[in-house]
Amino acid sequence: MQLLNGKQTAETLKAQIAEQVDELRARGGKIPHLAAVLVGSDGASETYVNNKVLACERVGFKSTLIRLDSDVSEDALLAEINKLNQNADIDGFIVQLPLPEHINETRVTLAIDPAKDVDGFCPANVGRLCLGLPTFVSATPNGIMELLRHHNIETEGKHCVVIGRSNIVGTPMSLLMSRNTNPGNSTVTLVHSRTKDMAAICRSADILIVAIGKAEFVGADMVKDGAVVIDVGITRLPDANTKSGYRLAGDVDFAAVKDKCSWITPVPGGVGPMTIVSLLQNTLKAQTLRQQF
Ligand SMILES: NC(=O)c1ccc[n+]([C@@H]2O[C@H](COP(=O)([O-])OP(=O)(O)OC[C@H]3O[C@@H](n4cnc5c(N)ncnc54)[C@H](OP(=O)(O)O)[C@@H]3O)[C@@H](O)[C@H]2O)c1
Repeated sequence: MQLLNGKQTAETLKAQIAEQVDELRARGGKIPHLAAVLVGSDGASETYVNNKVLACERVGFKSTLIRLDSDVSEDALLAEINKLNQNADIDGFIVQLPLPEHINETRVTLAIDPAKDVDGFCPANVGRLCLGLPTFVSATPNGIMELLRHHNIETEGKHCVVIGRSNIVGTPMSLLMSRNTNPGNSTVTLVHSRTKDMAAICRSADILIVAIGKAEFVGADMVKDGAVVIDVGITRLPDANTKSGYRLAGDVDFAAVKDKCSWITPVPGGVGPMTIVSLLQNTLKAQTLRQQF
């Protein structure tokens, strides 16, 4: 088994982005600027947003963090989004999900200018992805494609099974892997909670991508010998032996399947860092595209 080391790959890609920012600065170009909106103070969301802001600093981007109280009204949040849409200095922005229950996520996503939608969640960008047009690809699936590319994983003609059909991970992932690209050109099966005999389908996967949010769900009985396993899940499990009181677990039982795989992503240090680097890539792309108009 070899590790698909997202942490190391992300560092390499961040160094490349930092070089591009240095070049931009040297020729007096505009420094990319990413904004993040965080509603409330959910611990996991705080960590994700802080990591995104830190990553911006590391590569020399400007970043702005907008914190709103958890009881902020939907109208007030939409007004904030409108300001970001209009702000010429902001190249791209994200609204950290999940949002409190009284806020309609679809309405919020629809309010984001697709040209600044560096998370790639807007219908316009998802539609462009379906049609194979240039777009901002949702950060996690894009990060997984980068990870496969970086490690020269052969995907053409392989059977790729994606578990989970969310709009932000599973569905775009299945589209990307089926496209006529490299990585890509896989024969894709998308499975979900209503799929029958899921374990047998998973056992036929050359590439298994798991995004369900159920800690250590995938065991050795679901993995074919020599498979490439990508674990997207992140769940906090209570752990009295750690300082924080919890540990992070993936959707795959790493200890049980590692000896069956050819490649596997660790959690943490696999898909997570790649998601962040994708967001940086999308922001750089947003800045570049805006400069062309
Ligand atoms: N590493 C990262 O950067 C990153 C980024 C995004 C998400 N994540 C993590 O990835 C996980 C998934 O996130 P998400 O946003 O895609 O989750 P989500 O929106 O909750 O979707 C979960 C999907 O998994 C399916 N599912 C749930 N239980 C299942 C089961 N027992 N068998 C088969 N399918 C099942 C659901 O099926 P139905 O549609 O039938 O209900 C649904 O399609 C979470 O742990 C999340 O924290 C990590």
